[in-house]
Amino acid sequence: MAPPGFLVHGILISAFMISCVSGHQINYRDALSKSIIFFQGQRSGKLPTNQSITWRSDSGLSDGSTENVDLRGGYYDAGDNLKFGLPMAYTTTMLAWSVLEFGKHMASELHNAREAIRWGSDYLLKASAALPDKLYVQVGDPTADHKCWERAEDMDTPRSVYKVTPINPGSDVAAETAAALAAASLVFKNIDCQYSDKLLATSKKAFAFADKYRGKYSDSLSSVVCPFYCSYSGYLDELQWGAAWLYKATKNLSYLEYAKSIGVEGDSDTFSWDNKLPGTRVLLSRVDVINEMQHSVIGGDEAVSGFRQQAERFICNVLPISPSLTVKYTAGGLMYKLEGSNLQYVTSSSFLLTTYAKYLKKSKATFTCGTLTVTPALLREQAKKQVDYILGDNPEGMSYMVGFGEKFPKRIHHRGSSLPSIQQKPQAIGCDSGFQSFHSVNPNPNILTGAIVGGPDEHDSFADDRTNYAQSEPATYINAPLTGTLSYLAASFNP
Ligand SMILES: *[C@@H]1O[C@H](CO)[C@@H](O)[C@H](O)[C@H]1NC(C)=O
Ligand SMILES: *[C@@H]1O[C@H](CO)[C@@H](O)[C@H](O)[C@H]1NC(C)=O
Repeated sequence: MAPPGFLVHGILISAFMISCVSGHQINYRDALSKSIIFFQGQRSGKLPTNQSITWRSDSGLSDGSTENVDLRGGYYDAGDNLKFGLPMAYTTTMLAWSVLEFGKHMASELHNAREAIRWGSDYLLKASAALPDKLYVQVGDPTADHKCWERAEDMDTPRSVYKVTPINPGSDVAAETAAALAAASLVFKNIDCQYSDKLLATSKKAFAFADKYRGKYSDSLSSVVCPFYCSYSGYLDELQWGAAWLYKATKNLSYLEYAKSIGVEGDSDTFSWDNKLPGTRVLLSRVDVINEMQHSVIGGDEAVSGFRQQAERFICNVLPISPSLTVKYTAGGLMYKLEGSNLQYVTSSSFLLTTYAKYLKKSKATFTCGTLTVTPALLREQAKKQVDYILGDNPEGMSYMVGFGEKFPKRIHHRGSSLPSIQQKPQAIGCDSGFQSFHSVNPNPNILTGAIVGGPDEHDSFADDRTNYAQSEPATYINAPLTGTLSYLAASFNP
C-alpha cells in the first residue's frame, strides 16, 4: 500500500511545508498544557490536594490579617513572593480573554484554564470586598521581600497590605480589576452562573470606584509599587479597557459610550500590564460590537472606524514586513521591545494578531499597511513564527518555556524553583542563607513547568543565569496571553 501522502498530493505538500518551518512539528498541545500548569507554581494560599506542581506548599496563610481582611490566595507575580494587584488583574483578564476567544480549541485543557482564572478571580473578589471605599491592591513589602531569597512557604518578611481609597485613588488598578472580573464573569456565565453574577456585580463596583476617584495608584502608593509596577501609561487606558469589558459582559451601551468618550488618541505598539490601548482597540473592533454600534444612537461609521483603524495601525506597527513598522526585530526574527522581560510583549502582541485574524476572517475582510495587504493568514503566520521562536525555533536552539523541549532555561530567577523544596528540606531556609542557592551555578532543583522566561537579548542570545532577571525571570503576564495563541495553534497543527 502506498503511503497516504502519495495518494493525496495536496496533503503531502502541506505537511511538508509545515515540517520545514522548524525541522520538526512543535507539540503546541503539550506547550498549552504546560503553560497552564505554570500558574499552579505561582499560587499563593492554601493549595488543593490535586495541586500538580508538588514542590510547592501552602504559603501566605495570614495575608490580610494585619488589616483584619482575608487576602489569602492569588498569584505571586514572578520570581518573588509578592502579590501585586495590577499585574495579577491583567493576568486574569488575559487568561479569560484567551478562553473567550479560543476556549473551544482547548479540549481537555479548558477546565484547567478556567481553574487558573478562578484562582485569580477568587482573590480579586476578596481584594474588592471592601468596595465602594477600599480596594486592596498589594500584599508584601517589596523592599523587604527583594532583600531575601526565600521560599514562599518560609516567608518571614512583612506581609504589609496596601489599598487605594477615595483620598488615595488608583483608577488604573481598580479599572483593571473591573476588566478582570467582567472577563471572568463571561467565562463562568454558562458554567457557574451564581459565581458569574457575583463577578459581574463586583466588576461594576470596581469600575464605579475607578471612575469616581480618579488618580494613578503609583501617585498614591509610589514607593511600594514603583519601580516594579508603576503606572507609566496613566489610568485612562485602564478606564477605557474596563469599560470595554463591562460592555462585553453587560451589553449596556453606556459602557461603550464611556469607552468612546475617554478619547485616548495616538498610536501605541505596546500591549502590557501597564498599557491597555491596543487591547481595547482590538476588543472593540469586533464584528458584533460594530454591528451594535451601527444600530445604536452612539454608533455610526465614525465610531466603527475609530477602534478598527486604531487596531489596524497597531498591527501595522508590529508586523515585520509592514512599511510602518515601529518595533525592532532581532536577526533571528524575534520581536524585540525592551531588555527586561521582552517576551511579555511578544506573547501579548501575538495574542492580538491571532485574535484580530479571527475577527477579520469572520467579517471576510482584509486591510492594508501602506502597500502591504494584511490577511488573516498573514497575521496567523506571524503569530506562529513568534511562538515557534519561543518554543525552540531560534538561534540558541532552545525553548524559553521551562520543561518544554530538550534544551530550556535551567537557572531561572525564581525563589521557589531555585531553593530546595520544603519536602526535601523541611527546616526553614532564612532570608540570607537562600542566597547560596541564588549564586550557585547549579541548575534549579525544582522545575517550574511551563514558565516562559524574560527571554533572549537583542542579539538572540540567552544567558541562563539566575542573577540576570531581565532574561531569566518568569512572570504570570508572559504566559497569560500565550494561552490563547497556543490554543489556536494546537487546534490547527496538532488536531
Ligand atoms: C482540583 O480540586 C478542586 C477543589 O479542590 C476542584 O475544584 C478542581 O476541579 C480540581 N481540578 C482538577 C483538574 O481536577
Ligand atoms: C447601564 O449602565 C449605566 C451605568 O452604570 C446604568 O446607570 C444604567 O442603569 C444601565 N442600564 C441598564 C439598562 O442596565
